[in-house]
Formats: sequence, C-alpha cells, structure tokens
Amino acid sequence: MNILITQALPEAALTPLRTRYTVDIGSPSAPMPKELLMERIADIDGLIPTISDTIDASLLEKAERLRIIANYGVGYNHIDVEAATRRGILVTNTPDVLTDATAELAFALILATARRIVEGDRRMRSGQYRYWAPLDFLGTEVSGKTLGIVGYGRIGRAVARRGRAFDMRLLCTNRSPIDPKIAQEDAVTQVDIDTLLATSDVVSLHVPLTSETAHTIGRPQLVRMKPTAILINTSRGPVVDETALVEALKNGTIAAAGLDVYENEPSMAPGLSELPNVVLLPHVGSATVETRTRMAELAVRNLIEGLEGRIPSNCLNPQACKGACAGT
Ligand code: DGY
Repeated sequence: MNILITQALPEAALTPLRTRYTVDIGSPSAPMPKELLMERIADIDGLIPTISDTIDASLLEKAERLRIIANYGVGYNHIDVEAATRRGILVTNTPDVLTDATAELAFALILATARRIVEGDRRMRSGQYRYWAPLDFLGTEVSGKTLGIVGYGRIGRAVARRGRAFDMRLLCTNRSPIDPKIAQEDAVTQVDIDTLLATSDVVSLHVPLTSETAHTIGRPQLVRMKPTAILINTSRGPVVDETALVEALKNGTIAAAGLDVYENEPSMAPGLSELPNVVLLPHVGSATVETRTRMAELAVRNLIEGLEGRIPSNCLNPQACKGACAGT
C-alpha cells in the first residue's frame, strides 16, 4: 500500500509505517503544493496531512483508493470530514498529546504580554537600556487576576491548571454545561460569554474552528472587555476578527494581545505587526520535540489501525467504515 505524508515528520516515529508500506514524503520542509497533492491522491491508500493542506471535496473526488486520512494535529478544520465520510474514508486526529504543550504556550503568551517580555528583549538588543527607573516598563501582574477561558475542553482545562498555580480566579464558557464535579475540582465558574468578557483580565481562547465559533471575538465582544484586558489566541485565527482586533489594540479598547494563530495564516491583518502591544508567534502551540514526536506516533498508529481494518482510536467519522472495519 502507498502512504503519502505531506511534510517531513519526526523520522523515528515513521518506522512502523516504513516496515509495512511504501512511504513518500511530499515535501521536506515547506507545505506540499496543492497541485502535487492533486496528482498523487489517486494512487495512495493512506494520507498523513498537516494543517497546511486543504483536504476538500474536489481533492477527495480524485481519491480512488484512499482509505484513511490520519491528520497530524488535533484541529481538523482544513479537512472536509463530511466529504470523506461520503466516500468511506476514515479521518483521525491527534488529541491529548499536545494539550500540555499548547497550554504552556498560552501561558507563555499570557506572561509575555502582561510583563512586556518581548518589548524588553527588543530594548536590550537595541542598546536603549541606560538606567533603572521606578516608573519605567511597567507591566501588570497576573496573580490575583481573573482568567477567562473560552472553551473548556482538554486544553482549556490545562490552561486553568496553570492559572490556579498563578493564583488566578477562573471563569469559563463552554458549549455545554461542565460537570459540577470538574467545576469544583478546578475551582472554575462557568458563565456566559458576556460576563466572561466583561470581568476577565485575561481572555484565552480554546475552541475549535467551526461555523459557530468563527469571529467569537469581533468588535462587539472587544468593546465589552476591560480596557486593561489581554486577549490570548492559541486556537485558530478565524475565531478572532483580526481587523477588529488591530483597531481595538490601537484605540486602547483592550490593552494587549498574544497570538499564535492568524485569520489568514500565514498573513497578518494590516497594521498588526506594527503594534507594540501584541506578541506574535508563528503557530507553534504544539512545537516541542516531545509533542511533535508523540503526534507523529499517534498519527502513524491511527493510520495503521485504519488500514488494518480497525476503527482507529481517534476516529472522527466511524460511520465512514460501512461495515468493513472490525468492531462495526
Ligand atoms: C493542531 O494540532 O491543531 C495544531 O494547531 C497544529 O495543527
């Protein structure tokens, strides 16, 4: 069987695939060009794509023998899962293994924005630090402040754990009511989005990108936030209306933002990169050696399970199996 991995992954994790199948890497570093993927799709049985690949209905129409798409990542908004299901193609993702790395990065952005870490680094490198002054370079403490977590799934919960360690008061929103036992254990209070926005000092976004969550934070929501508030986004760019955010950061509607993802990634909204009160990262939430290795191991395991006729542990559409998989 032929397997296509669109971009190079941690090599050691690929051994179980290489011993079973013919494995091709689409591109060693940059994303695989869409035209090339179009050309290759008809001849492959298994695909491991990344967020940089758009797996839409027009591509899947050509996927004559494809049985499984084992996404390298937890977010799968770049894959048309319904179109895959219609064609009997399984889709899997890599949850859990990147929870801590992403929560750590969200917290790194919280501290970097609150304490102006990147601005301070720039000041040192430019040689502009000449003397210490009591009123110079003041940031804000996070201890004792309110952290509002939008989306209380695995990553949201892991961010809450870190917030507790910093003595923060915790609020959250979630699509469904959270288990009262979890609320008690985590010392988190579930509120509506308007309450969260109006009372949080830091708002951190942890929802998947869907038609319902696009522009969860737009102009009307930014206006509800405190002028001293910080917005953190490590989820997906389109969850925030980036043009409205630039305006809010310029006008002082909110104080600062820390972003790892962008509405039209890798581009940024005009003016964003010129603002001093924003910390910008190149979508590195899961970018640790440990996590990227675990993600590869999990994608490989999912792919093998699917090709061997089992429903993979992280299957997003078991109904695609049409009775061919064990356990259906
Ligand atoms: C994820 O796993 O969704 C990360 O954002 C990388 O795609």
